Amino acid sequence: MHAIVSITHRVTGNAMAFGAVMLFLWWLIAAATGPAAYATFLAVATGWFGILVGVGFTWVFFQHMCSGIRHLIMDTGQGYDLGTSRTTAALTIVGSVLLTVATWAAIYFHKGI
Ligand code: HEM
Repeated sequence: MHAIVSITHRVTGNAMAFGAVMLFLWWLIAAATGPAAYATFLAVATGWFGILVGVGFTWVFFQHMCSGIRHLIMDTGQGYDLGTSRTTAALTIVGSVLLTVATWAAIYFHKGI
């Protein structure tokens, strides 16, 4: 479990650095370009594929955040025994899934996608 979470930390970090940042730049450039460009961005972002990507990157962010916090705690020298390491690795997945569901539930009930 900790090996999977460790690899996932690297994959999610790089997915955000190379993937999510590009989408963020598209959003900013579309907003700066004008109404037509922004309407195109919104049409893609609120379509089923855009929402799928949005949910995916939300999980990627929260998984990286949770395992990053776990990493920072372990940097203080705690949680290295096998049992604790496995438990905290599993907790990062539980935490990231719950935070992703909570985020999209908030978006759904607030905006109604
Ligand atoms: C949300 C809070 C975040 C926390 C707590 C966090 C924590 C960390 C930690 C502790 C590491 C170092 C792991 C190691 O030493 O092996 C790391 C690596 C990294 N983070 Fe984050 N991070 C966060 C957000 C982000 C964001 C927003 C991005 C990108 C846009 C990002 C991209 C990366 C990358 C690319 C790495 C290197 C991955 C690799 O080993 O190849 N992180 N993060």
